[in-house]
Amino acid sequence: MAEFCHIPVLPDEVTTLLKFPADKPARLIDGTLGGASHSALLLQQNPQLELLGIDRDEDALAAAEQKLAFARDRIFLRRGNYSEMFEYAEELDWETVDGILLDLGVSSPQLDRPERGFSWRFDGPLDMRMDNRSELTAARLLNRSSADELGKIFAEYGEFHGAYRLAQAIVERRESTPFGSTADLVKVCDDVLGKSRPGKLPVPTLVFQALRIAVNDELGELKKVLSGAVSHLNRGGRIAVISFHSLEDRIVKEFFRRESTECLCPPGLPVCRCGHHATLAVLTKKPVTASQKELAANKRSSCAKLRVAEKIGK
Ligand SMILES: C[S@@+](CC[C@H](N)C(=O)[O-])C[C@H]1O[C@@H](n2cnc3c(N)ncnc32)[C@H](O)[C@@H]1O
Repeated sequence: MAEFCHIPVLPDEVTTLLKFPADKPARLIDGTLGGASHSALLLQQNPQLELLGIDRDEDALAAAEQKLAFARDRIFLRRGNYSEMFEYAEELDWETVDGILLDLGVSSPQLDRPERGFSWRFDGPLDMRMDNRSELTAARLLNRSSADELGKIFAEYGEFHGAYRLAQAIVERRESTPFGSTADLVKVCDDVLGKSRPGKLPVPTLVFQALRIAVNDELGELKKVLSGAVSHLNRGGRIAVISFHSLEDRIVKEFFRRESTECLCPPGLPVCRCGHHATLAVLTKKPVTASQKELAANKRSSCAKLRVAEKIGK
């Protein structure tokens, strides 16, 4: 297996905010296990911590298994989507847990391997699947979606000017030659949108990011898991989410805001009709971001935002 080298973001902040008392048994679900750097730190911190680690990427799971060999008897690894984490927990007879960790997006090894097709910087197949068992690849999406569907994906998830123009050009170009490689897509991006301006994020970065989010239904996964999170946390249990995209962060922020609000009735009603009670206390009023020291050591940490909340009430 090729080396799996991923530097975890905000490691001190995650281990401090998700801290499990060392003298008590506890259960953690890491839904985006990756190379398991965060989970390894948490397992080291608490010798009684049990972990359910999930990833859809088989290479990540293999790397995680090696890294976590020191805790072999208290880890359970599953390949699949984190939106199914509560089904996997049920199989272990874990009704509730003390912590849920999500470190969203892709890992460095995924980005750095040309054959995965995640990066415009290397020529490779237009794949972008985190789970190579799923049918939808980036090439399939580009070759089969309508101009309108592609435009929406680029505009919503990429947030760059010219999203619909690029989509139209892709649809015209694929008439003669279907898209197969990352280089094919970079060429159309350059032709239609021009070269990136110095100091700005290269346009293909945004185009590739948008496609990756769509291919892996990244926002859908996040919404699904949050909706089940509260009822599967023990009182005092915590959920920590690290996001790298403004849309992900907005979903987490909105969810935390709603779940930490006692009543959701429109203002002005004399009595509460909704019956909603706060279920979470937000521990990070503002998202936690990387320190200067971390930024200097790990460029990937520059967009990372960590939000953490604790289950309250019953
Ligand atoms: C940023 S990395 C996590 C790195 C990890 N925290 C560590 O310390 O090494 C994100 C990982 O989440 C996985 N992933 C992303 N979305 C997923 C999903 N919906 N279900 C399961 N795994 C997912 C990716 O395959 C990737 O390995």
